Amino acid sequence: MQNVIKVPLFFDRHLHLREGDMLKTVLPCTINQHATGAVIMGNLKEPTSSVERTIAYWDEIMSHIPPGVDFKPTMAAYLTDQTTPEEIVRGVKEGVWQAVKLYMADQNGQGGTTGSAHGVKNLRGRNKVFEAMQKYHIPLLGHFEAVEKEVDEFDREIVSLNRDLIPLLRDFPELPIVFEHLTDGRVADFIAQSSHELYATVTAHHLIMNRNWMFNGGVWNEDGKYHGGMNPGHYCKPVPKREEHRLRVRKHVTSGNRRFGAGTDSAPHDETAKSHCYGCAAGIFTAPKAVELYTTVFDEDNALEHLGAFLSENFVNLYGRTISSKMMTLRRIPSTIPQKVGNVQVFMGGTELPWTLE
Ligand code: NCD
Ligand code: ZN
Repeated sequence: MQNVIKVPLFFDRHLHLREGDMLKTVLPCTINQHATGAVIMGNLKEPTSSVERTIAYWDEIMSHIPPGVDFKPTMAAYLTDQTTPEEIVRGVKEGVWQAVKLYMADQNGQGGTTGSAHGVKNLRGRNKVFEAMQKYHIPLLGHFEAVEKEVDEFDREIVSLNRDLIPLLRDFPELPIVFEHLTDGRVADFIAQSSHELYATVTAHHLIMNRNWMFNGGVWNEDGKYHGGMNPGHYCKPVPKREEHRLRVRKHVTSGNRRFGAGTDSAPHDETAKSHCYGCAAGIFTAPKAVELYTTVFDEDNALEHLGAFLSENFVNLYGRTISSKMMTLRRIPSTIPQKVGNVQVFMGGTELPWTLE
């Protein structure tokens, strides 16, 4: 049995840090996970759709990084229907953006997830932007979920794959694309055998829970009793899927396929936003123990030899990063997931994991 693992320092390919006090609260969690950086999502009140806005946000993040800590945010442009190819190319040439994030919204500006209302309503209206991105090899990070009310919540990825992604691959065959927070086994199979520059990020929570977790609480209250019932703490976008999908995604990930990489999509919401019984916010916070969660998954699948590539190597060059030459150590020593950080509940808080990141 392997009790110690050394892997290159972590790179989180999908992270929400928010702004202001929340940023101050959650940033140390990712830094403590020995991340050399992360792809920072710009779905803020004022999203990162312009170069200037993104520089201001980058400055805010940098102002909270302690001296001597080597954490470098990788910034993504937030694509809107107004974004021009010139703006994207300028931002990339100036070194502000390393990628473009696609959120989609319906015709009424209803997005499929938190902070997506400014997202793209007319995908093919962005062809000129995709052309420029293809020319300069700028990756598109896609939240590929159909947003129409009529589409079944559990089929949103497969509908978007067929309707949005496959035509994009056909028309822009050299455009690098990352399918964000993959959950659907059919999409995972498609990506695994693709001949395109197509990759996927996978969260820790989607490797661990299936859709039952949303409906069957799994909460131990302070009285020590188990409580069932709906659990907003397990609600995120994309929603977790059937068990067979979780297992199919997980098989590709832990078999060491290089197209799959860790992106936590750690998305903090304060407790009150999560505990609304109507309009509960989508998002799950895993940042404090993300590396240990992923390690537990690879260990359970007897695949620890593939852990380092998934956490820290696979397609990081796409974001203009290199694999860290420094190593971090995980030991088979139990550690407990904190219940809360500030006012934010942590995914599986209170649970003991078999691993500790040194
Ligand atoms: C994210 C958030 O809270 O910003 N929520 C989520 O459920 N994943 C947005 C997103 O990535 O979809
Ligand atoms: Zn996200």
